[in-house]
Amino acid sequence: MADLSQFQHPRFARMYERISAESERRGTAAHRDRALAGLVGRVIEIGAGNGLNFSHYPDAVTEVVAVEPDDHLRGLAEEAATRAPVPVRVLAGHATALPVDDHGFDAAVASLVLCSIADTQAALAEIRRVLKPTGQLRFFEHVRSEKPWFGLLQDAIAPLWSRIGGGCHPNRDTAAAIRAAGFDIEELDRFYYAPLRFFPSHAHILGRARPRPTTS
Ligand SMILES: C[S@@+](CC[C@H](N)C(=O)[O-])C[C@H]1O[C@@H](n2cnc3c(N)ncnc32)[C@H](O)[C@@H]1O
Repeated sequence: MADLSQFQHPRFARMYERISAESERRGTAAHRDRALAGLVGRVIEIGAGNGLNFSHYPDAVTEVVAVEPDDHLRGLAEEAATRAPVPVRVLAGHATALPVDDHGFDAAVASLVLCSIADTQAALAEIRRVLKPTGQLRFFEHVRSEKPWFGLLQDAIAPLWSRIGGGCHPNRDTAAAIRAAGFDIEELDRFYYAPLRFFPSHAHILGRARPRPTTS
């Protein structure tokens, strides 16, 4: 099994467990519904956290394989899996070495996680590896603001934010990273909301991408 010691953030994990309930009520749950709508077949979820997506998967999903490196959050995800409306298997692992075979999944889901993965391009390459050629990536992520002053503020707070937030980067251009990794973005909604009452409203993206066919 992979060494997951570098992914353990117990203080952040307990904080996320607490604050995510408020975030769900303030709009995140509704965005999860939109992010997962219409999915079918086998799905791999990257960095599933405490399993908050599980109750939002449509019935046409036949299996979710949920990969989570943090021990505390994975324990909560395992509990959430028992209440999920579709079969969910929770695995210990991380995004740049997914513990699954090549090309076995109809969809991959990344929600509020590409901000936290140290090597986004390596993670997106792994997602390409495990997706069927016809598969799709669904994403729902917070990103760097297009408002110049707010983007600069996000850049300035990034080092401290990352230390408190389990490696989260508030200032990533995740849509550009998805395209750079060889995906075509087919749907992209960009919107602002405040998932926590003490946070200012900030930019998010939600959408669907497919692996760009490789030319041989
Ligand atoms: C803000 S939480 C989001 C959890 C969940 N995806 C959600 O939508 O609520 C970020 C998650 O990313 C996970 N994570 C961080 N680095 C990771 C990596 N390299 N591979 C997989 N998951 C990772 C963390 O353990 C944590 O569960």
